[in-house]
Amino acid sequence: MLLPLHPYAASSPPQTRYYKTCMSTEIIRPARTLQGSLTVPGDKSISHRYAMLAGLADGTSRLSNFSTGADPHSSLACMAALGATVATTGDGPAAVIEVTGVAGAFRQPAAPLDCGNSGSTMRMLAGLIAAHPHTFTLVGDHSLTPRPMERIRKPLAQMGAQIALTEGHAPITIHGQPLQAIDFTTPIPSAQVKTAVLFAGLQATGTTSLTESIRTRDHTEHALRAFGAILTRKGDKLSINGGQKLKAIDATVPGDISSAAFFLCAALLFPDSNLVLDSLGMNPTRAALLDVIAALGGRIKVLTVEEHHGELIGSIQVNRAGSNPSTGPFIISGALTAQVIDELPVLAAIAPLTANGLIIRDAQELRVKESDRIALVARNLRAMGAQLTENPDGLEIPGNQTLHGAEIDSGSDHRIAMAFSIAALRATGDTAIHGSEAARISFPEFFTALNSLAQR
Ligand code: S3P
Repeated sequence: MLLPLHPYAASSPPQTRYYKTCMSTEIIRPARTLQGSLTVPGDKSISHRYAMLAGLADGTSRLSNFSTGADPHSSLACMAALGATVATTGDGPAAVIEVTGVAGAFRQPAAPLDCGNSGSTMRMLAGLIAAHPHTFTLVGDHSLTPRPMERIRKPLAQMGAQIALTEGHAPITIHGQPLQAIDFTTPIPSAQVKTAVLFAGLQATGTTSLTESIRTRDHTEHALRAFGAILTRKGDKLSINGGQKLKAIDATVPGDISSAAFFLCAALLFPDSNLVLDSLGMNPTRAALLDVIAALGGRIKVLTVEEHHGELIGSIQVNRAGSNPSTGPFIISGALTAQVIDELPVLAAIAPLTANGLIIRDAQELRVKESDRIALVARNLRAMGAQLTENPDGLEIPGNQTLHGAEIDSGSDHRIAMAFSIAALRATGDTAIHGSEAARISFPEFFTALNSLAQR
């Protein structure tokens, strides 16, 4: 099937880009239990930030355990298009990505910067390049193109950036020019918006300050410091001086807790499950997931923890507790919703199988992710026979239900494809995950890992 895409740029002559959909279907059989150990690939969020800052820095950064997902590789490809040199040495888990940065001066790219499926690439990159004296066009695929970009346009324009959207979304055109510092309060909790502003602030005149309404993942703060920038926090306010230069680093990316989430949830589904996760990112702004897993009946033992460039990396053991302490449904709302935003699809997918169910509130952002994740989770859960209520900002999913195998539509969304593969482990009958290839966006090894951990 051929689907039309948005034209590349508002100013370019109308043109239509086509892509071929080559959907794969993965059949998931129910499992008896889940057992074994796993090292998940490098964190997607941290990989993006290391790729971009290494691209801007002076010298060659060596990044081990870089995410194998397609999204952070879109960030690397954009860095190469902007003049950085990107090379890979070794392969498999031993691969090291070497990025030789442009020492503060990106070059004019020869073509539009292709952000693929990656909202992080598009939003953070806009802040990173806006001060460079070139013209940039940022484009994405059919899922990224309609996603909201006004959230980054507004603060960057306040800083003096010349940035034009296409009806509120991509393609984005930026005519780079000098930026001035601003004092900004983020209206929605978004680490991507925070990052765009801090990256622009790093290269602006003056001191940029940013206050978050709800504190989001702080990988940008750690990464900026790792590359040598000075960044201060007073209460809720972050400040960064413009004109700071970055120096290359050697770093190991911690394992992605959002990828681990699928198997943490799977471990909740079987009374005799036993899962060990090694080299896992346990940054406190991401690890609230572990509290949710415990509240849903998981028992988590932290085996080791160490720190690397401000990020915590550890090993944990997870299994299902004998009894679940809670009596009513577990409620995810407010700040907790922001902290586990990427894990909500899998938590929702297994919610009918938990003892007491799950209520998700304040999650309207889920409707503008790679898909409308609230609608798609509701539709796919109903296809598996679950009862639930869909609200504008979330879902109410009673526990103690049974699921049956079904035809699942991933909506080309990686987290939906993987979330329903986990629910399928405990369904009666086989489940077909259509569009399963979407997993490559964040976790290409997902189905291999699933097959080795799920005992049948
Ligand atoms: C991310 C931030 C979150 C998250 C996304 C990755 C990041 O998005 O959903 O997958 O790396 O900063 P928002 O900033 O839109 O909340």
